[in-house]
Amino acid sequence: MTLSRRSLLLGSAAALFALVESAEARSKRRRSGGRKASRGKASRAAAASAPQTPPPPNGTALPIPELITVAADGETTIAAGFADHAFIKDKPARVAGYNGRHLGPALRLVRGQSATIRIENKLDRPTNVHWHGLSVDAKLDGAMQPPLAPGASATYKITADQSSATLWYHAHVHGSVGRDVHDGLAGFLIVEDPDEIGLGLPSTWGVDDIPLLIQDKDFDAAGAPVYAPDADAIEHGFRGRTVLVNGVREAVARVPQRPVRFRLLNASSARTYRLYCEDERGFDLIATDGGYLPGPVEITMLVLAPGERAEILIDFSLGSTNLMSTPDVHEHRMGATAMSLPDVIDKPFRVCGFDPFSDNRPGTKRPDRLVVLPPADPKTAVRRRRFELKSLAATAMPYAAGDHAAMDHTTMDHAAMGHAGHGQTTAQPTSRTTSGASDGAPRPALGINGKAFAMGRIDEEVGLGTTEIWEIVSAEMAHPFHVHGVQFRVLGEDGGPPKTWNSGLKDTVLVENSAELLITFPHRADRSAPFVYHCHVLEHEDAGMMGTFTVS
Ligand code: C2O
Ligand code: CU
Ligand code: CU
Repeated sequence: MTLSRRSLLLGSAAALFALVESAEARSKRRRSGGRKASRGKASRAAAASAPQTPPPPNGTALPIPELITVAADGETTIAAGFADHAFIKDKPARVAGYNGRHLGPALRLVRGQSATIRIENKLDRPTNVHWHGLSVDAKLDGAMQPPLAPGASATYKITADQSSATLWYHAHVHGSVGRDVHDGLAGFLIVEDPDEIGLGLPSTWGVDDIPLLIQDKDFDAAGAPVYAPDADAIEHGFRGRTVLVNGVREAVARVPQRPVRFRLLNASSARTYRLYCEDERGFDLIATDGGYLPGPVEITMLVLAPGERAEILIDFSLGSTNLMSTPDVHEHRMGATAMSLPDVIDKPFRVCGFDPFSDNRPGTKRPDRLVVLPPADPKTAVRRRRFELKSLAATAMPYAAGDHAAMDHTTMDHAAMGHAGHGQTTAQPTSRTTSGASDGAPRPALGINGKAFAMGRIDEEVGLGTTEIWEIVSAEMAHPFHVHGVQFRVLGEDGGPPKTWNSGLKDTVLVENSAELLITFPHRADRSAPFVYHCHVLEHEDAGMMGTFTVS
């Protein structure tokens, strides 16, 4: 972190924290005061008799990604490739995505049905696909297999075996994840459990069940996104000045005047969104990363960190509103000194505008109960492990994507991992501007328990089917911690109970200071293709804040 940035503390930072805090307090009050007080008939009637009809916000119609249900025994192909996409009108830019477009289609798997997904690499660089949140053996996880060389393809035969959930897929080539996801190599992956279809939730894709993939970018004068994090952006994570939903700026969604479900996915590198409705109305949280909560919980603010998903219901029979976020003012701690760091965006901003219309269909009644979540019982844990997320001295970094030494190392490791002769083994991409600091300054290294990620090294060995408590500690700043191959429960965070949005099934959790996770490991991972855990700030992951584990 440079001194100039350090001293550039925003005067409004305190005010923003106050706004966040008051929203948190409000949502707590509402929770404890019960639903009736905050959402009784009286307030509904008042809203109905005096409907707010603000003019629809200006912007770009929200595009809805195509939903592809991968039918039982069917095969679906997604081809990673380049796409021309105009983020700014009349200024098309060359970015990446799947099947010829920026970003990817939404893939829907049905629980219990075997589906084949074929991946083709039409890029000029190695790629792979990781199924983030999918509960499968590590050999199907996609992250630690050798990337596909340009022109190569691979197939994954997957049988989803988990509750209905909004998951996602994205490229996961170590050292280039930030660049690739920023470029558009990401999409929704939806698991549908046939037993959970009758819950009475809005579920017409693109109409009252709307996916919102949120990212932030910077653009050059030609309208092309710029991703070239300097040492500072590696240390703190890249944050762009423009927020996009499903690939467009100033997104506005047409919504029916009834409860609408939104599937939120934070596919940003580092930006954490603190989402609220512009009129501060309550909305219902119905699902976290790994699936539904026991029942809807009314909140007024939702924190969504990189990698996380949430499903919410916003009731547009109460009039229109906009989905807003506060800036991502974050805190940095070094020894005894904690300071808040400004965001490149300095005031609350609109994430998605809404333009409600009447379709004369009655709103679905808000269900009281959704699913049964077994209690998170710490007594089931057979052991504890502790993970401290912290920056390292640059010299301690054994691996740097983009270095020739690292390429040899990677190739060698793949051979050691038994992938030699696979025919698709490729070295890491070498693009300097995207895999390391672009300013010539020493690149920061980050690690877990004092070690940066090393391909081929196994950091932890876990027993198949066992349950453990993982204690995660963020030393310097909040990190979204993600574990592959599992859905865990948060036992506690920062010495208190989990926040509402961390109370369900999770695979990624924003660790402000510390968190205790209860994790059961139902899937196998061997030494040749282990699972990984890492910070989902993609610059941190690429700079080494990642470790490996086997499950056997
Ligand atoms: Cu979203 Cu290791 O991944
Ligand atoms: Cu993942
Ligand atoms: Cu991090």
